[in-house]
Formats: sequence, structure tokens, C-alpha cells
Amino acid sequence: MTAVSLSTSTAAALRADAVVVAVAKGPKGLVLAPGAEVVDEAFEGRLAEVLTTLGATGAAGEAVKVPAPAGLKAPLVLAVGLGEAAEDGYAAEALRAAAGVAARTLQGSKKAAFALPAADATAVEAITLGALLGAYTFTACRSENGKADAKAPLAEVAVTGAKRADKAAKAAVERGTVVAEEMNRARDLVNMPPNDLFPKSFADIATTAGKELGNVKVEVLDEKALTKGGFGGILGVGTGSARSPRLVKVAYTHPKAKASLAFVGKGITYDSGGISLKPAGHNETMKCDMAGAGAVFASVLAVAKLGLPVNVTGWLALAENMPSGSATRPGDVLRMYGGKTVEVLNTDAEGRLVLADAIVRAGEEKPGYIIDVATLTGAMVMALGSRTFGVMANDDAFRGTVTELAEAAGEPAWAMPLPAHLRGPMDSTVADISNMGERMGGGLVAGLFLKEFVADGITWAHLDIAGPAFNEGAPFGYTPKGGTATAVRTLVALAEHAADGKL
Ligand code: BES
Ligand code: MN
Ligand code: ZN
Repeated sequence: MTAVSLSTSTAAALRADAVVVAVAKGPKGLVLAPGAEVVDEAFEGRLAEVLTTLGATGAAGEAVKVPAPAGLKAPLVLAVGLGEAAEDGYAAEALRAAAGVAARTLQGSKKAAFALPAADATAVEAITLGALLGAYTFTACRSENGKADAKAPLAEVAVTGAKRADKAAKAAVERGTVVAEEMNRARDLVNMPPNDLFPKSFADIATTAGKELGNVKVEVLDEKALTKGGFGGILGVGTGSARSPRLVKVAYTHPKAKASLAFVGKGITYDSGGISLKPAGHNETMKCDMAGAGAVFASVLAVAKLGLPVNVTGWLALAENMPSGSATRPGDVLRMYGGKTVEVLNTDAEGRLVLADAIVRAGEEKPGYIIDVATLTGAMVMALGSRTFGVMANDDAFRGTVTELAEAAGEPAWAMPLPAHLRGPMDSTVADISNMGERMGGGLVAGLFLKEFVADGITWAHLDIAGPAFNEGAPFGYTPKGGTATAVRTLVALAEHAADGKL
């Protein structure tokens, strides 16, 4: 991964391939953001004018390159837009996005000096995170020739402007780096093709990571153990695949834990729909259907690396949903972990089946809170679009907390209801419940189904990340095409909130 460090040299004196400055939209046109002063001096005070002449406005997402004048060690100046000019400091998300655009634009370069408004530790962390996320590329599946053709990510970022030996700034770089490392791990998992990432290989990756970290314990239930334990949901979804399912427990504990949280992730390594097969046009991106498990896994590792005083257990419900002679049929009844029975009327509503088992299992350990994360419904994408996830819960205050923490961490989220009248249509004529309900409000129906499996006394929230998990459009800000790692920052923020004694 790219390396970020703090530099006490001025951006003018740094030996680098480019100096990055930020610009914004002022009332009378483009303005330079703090941090750009030394660069502007090298332009004899005309940098804003030069950039304006080149068509720059300071809009978010903008990136304009200018050859550097004498006086700067670097040969190139890159100006990135922050959006509207701010009098009292730039929002963390604007800084993340601008740093991300800069890192993405400088792909193929070795080193850049970031002369951005790094006013305080919050800003330094935002710049670090944005740069490391923006620099991300996925090259694991390219041949050596293919790798040589592709531009390498920006190798080094020197953030200027922070004071020498500023402990808070150093800690900010460290925290930003940990979160970026883990988000990029979650992105890698989503981007891995489903012939490489399947339940067993995902479980093996988790086991290896657990050994590397030391303070995370990983336990894997294979098909035999799942059968013995009666995990009918995970087994029912996985039974059509040649690759058997797994339930992985990833546990981090702290002796001075302030709270216990369970994170549950939907880990469908490929969702073909099963016998209720998805039509062409709906299955090309379905390797992303394990993004919830990827986010849960990565966030537990991030919490462990940060050493937060909280207990966090991640549950990865891993299966491949395939049609075959051994697949679950529409009409089959599954006996879920804990004993409830479910009539499967549509095998494409498989996420709720694997999650139900994992939620019941997570509840047995009596955590204070369960948060599940899942690419659960197309209906949620219809409702909220491709950049916002829906938040449902069995507690209004907790739903509010989760939604606010998500927004503050840079992950657009929106509170959604669980209307009681949508439960009736899920009644089954043969089993306790069916996995299908009313079509309208399908995201809420799925949430209501999951709620049935949450034990009394546990506060629960459900994040439906079907929209933002996978970016099918052009890259923007620090978000590349493909896996985005959405929900990782929300889960880490929740763990921090709990560690602060605020839950
Ligand atoms: N994995 C899909 C949901 C999804 C859709 C994720 C688009 C990412 C992007 C899920 O398993 C699914 O197929 N849901 C069905 C449920 C329906 C059959 C009740 C859906 O949303 O159509
Ligand atoms: Mn499905
Ligand atoms: Zn699915």
C-alpha cells in the first residue's frame, strides 16, 4: 500500500514528482485553500489566476495540472477542488475526497507532497485516509505483462503543514492508515473473482489474518460442523453449490471492554439466485454479495489493530448460491439454527436465510448489540440509490445513533422503518414464516424477517448496503470502481463510540 508520512519541510523544498494544493469555489471565483501559500509564492502570487485561466473553478472532483515554476523542487503542481470555500475549516469529507482525487490522478508517480489544509489532527486523518483509499488499485488477477501495462499506485505521500513532533497529527496518520488498510482489504475481498473467493477460501483468509494479528481469534464451522449444529439456513443456501458453506467467528476481546458488540455479515460469495435464477443483466456483479461479510471482517481487524477497549465478535455467514440438482427448491422448508422453520418461496431471497442462522448464533453469546451488514435487496437500491445504505433497527434511538455515526464517518446512510403491517404477508401455510413477503417495500420486508431472529433484550440494527457496496459507475473522490468497503467506517465508529462509554 501507499505510504503516508508527515513532513516538516515546506512543499516547495520537497523532492517529489508533484505538489498537490487544494482550491475552492469562492463568491468571486476560485480561491486557494490554506497550505497552498508557498506554492503560490513560487507563482509570484498568481496561482489562482493561472488555474482560473486553465478553466479550474474549485469544484469538488476537479483536478488540474500545471507545470511548476522555478522555486519548487517538484516539476508539477496538481490543484484539486474542495467545492464551496469554507471560512472556518474544511469538512473532513471534502478533504478525503480531494486527497482521493489527487492520489488517483497521480497514479504512476512515485512521490507527492500534499500541501492541503491540514489544520488539525482531524484534517490530517482525513487527508491520510482519502489518499490511501484513492490510491487503491486491484491488480491480483492481472498477468505480469498486464501489471506492467497498468500504472502503479502512487507510492509515497508527504503531508506538509503539520507541526514537528505533533503527537496528535502522528496518531491521526496512524489511525487513517489502519482504517484505509482494512477498507482496502474489504475492497480486495469484494473484487476477488468468485472462482477464487468462495466460502472455504474466505475462511482460510480469515484464519491466516487471525494468526498474523495475534489478538483476534478465528473459528471456522465447516459443512460437517454446520450440520451437527443445525444451521439449516446456511446449509440450505449452500447446498446447490460444489463449494460448501462456512460460518466464521472472528473475535476480538479487551480486558477493560466497555461493551460487547456482534457484527454479522452476509457472505454470499456468488449469488446466481439459485433455482429462482437471476436473469442475465442481474448477475454480472453478484460477486459483491459477500460485501457485508467483508466489511464485518475488516472492521473487526481494524478495531483489534486500534486496540479499542470493547469486545467485538464478527460472524461471517459464507455460502455460494447456485442452482443444481442438490439446490434448495422453492417450496422447501428449512429448519434454522435455533429451531424456527422457514418456507423458501424464492431461492434468490437467500441473504436473510444465512443471516438468520448467524444472528441467532451471535445472540447466544448475549452481546449488548447486534449489527448486521448485507447486500440484501434490490428494493433498497431503488429506494436510496447507489451511494446510500438503509438503516433499520428494533430501537429508534440506536437506529439514530448508527445513522449519525455513519454520516459523520463519511458513509451516507438513511434511517428506514420496519412497518408492522408488512409482517403478515410473510406468513407461510406450512412453516413458521416464509422468506417472501409483499414486493413493495422489499427492503423493509427483509428487515422485518431478520428482526424475528434477534433474541429478546438485544439491541439490533440492520444495514442494507446493496446500493453502495459496489461502484458500477466511474470512480469519484476516493471511491474506485468495484468494491467500496462501505460500512467499515460505520462499524469502527460504533466500536469507538462504545469504547468511549457512549452506547
Ligand atoms: N443479493 C441480492 C440483492 C442485491 C441486488 C444486491 C442488487 C446488490 C445489488 C439479494 O440476494 C436478492 O436477490 N434479493 C432479491 C430479494 C427478492 C427475491 C425478495 C431482490 O432484491 O430482488
Ligand atoms: Mn439473491
Ligand atoms: Zn444475495
